[in-house]
Amino acid sequence: MAKNLNNFNVAGSPVYVGNAALQELESHLRIHYAEKDGIIILADENTYNQCYSLLIKEVPRLARAYKIVIPAGESYKTLESCEKVWNQLAVAGANRRSLLINLGGGMISDLGGFAASVFHRGMEFINIPTSLLGMIDASMGGKTGIDLYSLKNIIGVFSNPAAVYVWPQFLNTLPLRQRLSGYAEMMKHALIADYNFWNRLIALPMAVISDWENFIVEAIQIKAEIVNRDPFEKGDRMLLNFGHTLGHAFETWSLRNDDNPLTHGEAIAMGIICETYISYRSAGLSMAERDEIIKQILLNFNHYKIPTSAIDELVEITNYDKKNQKGRTMLTLIRNIGNAIAGQAIEPAIIRESFFRFTDFVKSAEL
Ligand SMILES: NC(=O)c1ccc[n+]([C@@H]2O[C@H](COP(=O)([O-])OP(=O)(O)OC[C@H]3O[C@@H](n4cnc5c(N)ncnc54)[C@H](O)[C@@H]3O)[C@@H](O)[C@H]2O)c1
Repeated sequence: MAKNLNNFNVAGSPVYVGNAALQELESHLRIHYAEKDGIIILADENTYNQCYSLLIKEVPRLARAYKIVIPAGESYKTLESCEKVWNQLAVAGANRRSLLINLGGGMISDLGGFAASVFHRGMEFINIPTSLLGMIDASMGGKTGIDLYSLKNIIGVFSNPAAVYVWPQFLNTLPLRQRLSGYAEMMKHALIADYNFWNRLIALPMAVISDWENFIVEAIQIKAEIVNRDPFEKGDRMLLNFGHTLGHAFETWSLRNDDNPLTHGEAIAMGIICETYISYRSAGLSMAERDEIIKQILLNFNHYKIPTSAIDELVEITNYDKKNQKGRTMLTLIRNIGNAIAGQAIEPAIIRESFFRFTDFVKSAEL
């Protein structure tokens, strides 16, 4: 296979994408390794089992790195896990001149990025995303953090990785359900910024897509362009939050109530349904595009049923959103596919209505 490498800049961090990405890391470490007081690799149990040996094969010098392995899953993106990571960093003798390598999906890059950013007031970290969602979104742009009482990303800092290395072969072991989770974020990228990308994405059912690299590159281009305009989310970067405010409410609700909680992307897909409905109600989205978006989501994702008795709790969770202003929920909405508008203040009654309509859309898809 010919070696290829795409190169982006996201908020000042280089992002390398392609099957030569880990060679690029090897060259970087060859030059800079001596400057470092130790390298530490953070992984979760799955990425340690599935991805670590592949990484060592491509970058043999990392076999000497100290390893920290934590349990997998969003329910471990907590202060308790962070404390364990800080303890292990101390045991490894890490200091401000050490390097943390986050090998995993968005849970690992969010938590590891945050842990590194405050350890000794900040040590360098790089991200090697292993999930689709990590490759197109979570590993780049500088948002790091953890959840508190299942409330998403309540604690965190903006802190950019020194570099990101996206090596698509890691996806070979990623379970289908987790690919779908990344696909939801790709749908969001397309819906806010690129009508043609949306059409390419939905041309095939997600389950039959095998060549992800071109989609990854297109999705990163969208993220890079938006983040580079507004790295600290004062304006345009909020566009990337489409589907996330109500999606996070579903995710929190599910983390609290389900034995097998929704993935981040499944929750975002549900949030996209609600926020698409609100876009139709409040931002001029046509009924035809509303129905097309909802149809595509319901075609690809499981029809998750929430009891109507859960809607009060979902509304209450939404009220905790970081972006709320004066009792109203601030949403990004879409006017049409590929064209979004941030900072729309939405009344609580419409938020509640969208959760009810969500249950109707799911029911009618089953008829
Ligand atoms: N910081 C940001 O800008 C940003 C953006 C979007 C999402 N996020 C965060 O990202 C997280 C979701 O990311 P995610 O979907 O990657 O979740 P994740 O990191 O929990 O990974 C999902 C599952 O896939 C497993 N996995 C990952 N790579 C694998 C591989 N190659 N082979 C086998 N198993 C593998 C993991 O162990 C885990 O069980 C959420 O916490 C979300 O809030 C952050």
